[in-house]
Amino acid sequence: MTLSEKYNKIYHMDCLKGMRELLDDKEVDVVVTSPPYNLGIEYNTYNDNLPREKYLKWIEEVGKEIKRVLKDDGSFFLNIGYSNRDPWIALDVAFRLRKHFVLQNVIHWIKSIAIQKEDVGIYPNVRGDIAVGHYKPVNSDRYLSIMHEYIFHFTKKGDVKLDKLAIGVPYQDKSNIKRWKSAKMGLRDRGNVWFIPYETIKSREKQRPHPATFPVKLVELCIKLHGLNRTKLVLDPFMGLGSTAIASIRLGVNFIGFEIDEYYIKIAENRIKQELGKAHRSKGDKLTIASTREINKTRTLTDYLSAYYSISEKTR
Ligand SMILES: C[S@@+](CC[C@H](N)C(=O)[O-])C[C@H]1O[C@@H](n2cnc3c(N)ncnc32)[C@H](O)[C@@H]1O
Repeated sequence: MTLSEKYNKIYHMDCLKGMRELLDDKEVDVVVTSPPYNLGIEYNTYNDNLPREKYLKWIEEVGKEIKRVLKDDGSFFLNIGYSNRDPWIALDVAFRLRKHFVLQNVIHWIKSIAIQKEDVGIYPNVRGDIAVGHYKPVNSDRYLSIMHEYIFHFTKKGDVKLDKLAIGVPYQDKSNIKRWKSAKMGLRDRGNVWFIPYETIKSREKQRPHPATFPVKLVELCIKLHGLNRTKLVLDPFMGLGSTAIASIRLGVNFIGFEIDEYYIKIAENRIKQELGKAHRSKGDKLTIASTREINKTRTLTDYLSAYYSISEKTR
């Protein structure tokens, strides 16, 4: 199978089988994924209620396989949440993977935050109290609503150089720019707290019929942080509705993914079609695609994807 036949697809397959059958050792630059959390979440087919030890063993198997396919200087971003009843699950997973990876960074994905003016001081941009983002409010007198999830950044040796300013944020106080050499671009390190709200949707059933997606922007930040120039292939073993595929298309990098649920793959493919429909020629080698209708009518999605990506067979 050539790379253009293999890449930029979501395979309807168990991810362990998929990685073993389709991916060579050290083929992948970046893994961004969110596995089932074993919190009894209602997926279309997957049973998210395994005995804990069985679940952790399985996650470890997946982790081992990810290590095999990951380049030595690759990055593995594992997004995982938890519940108030089971706050340890995310940490238990990280602890299992500790046997195989170095935890290079712990990133906190913040879904919603409240900032009070009185705590901010003299920041002209903050004019009053603000509360932004979306979260599921908890109905309890002992638990707080959970507004964050983890993104564990695992690497093989803990020494992967990152492109921090690719996701840098502008300095508020521009006088810092003169003071520090690294501030040359007017940007500073974003740090490990990332506020990424879910997109506002009107109908969950129609627009996001999946109980546990992550925002496309989360994936974009991970890939850019690893370094866009040295990312040839992004893997998501648990593709869900295809957020990793959409982010990869936006950034012009190849992806490969696995998902056991056919219904989710269908929706992911529709999202990809819409994304390609929106794509505009940004570089000389990129294809401009007029509309989703055109994709449906004339050529298959695979045709369009392989035209969108001009893959050199010498990628590796
Ligand atoms: C947390 S969701 C991922 C959602 C995805 N990040 C998104 O934004 O849409 C986990 C997904 O893993 C899928 N899944 C569960 N077991 C799997 C397996 N063995 N191989 C591949 N996919 C699996 C589930 O069907 C579910 O869609």
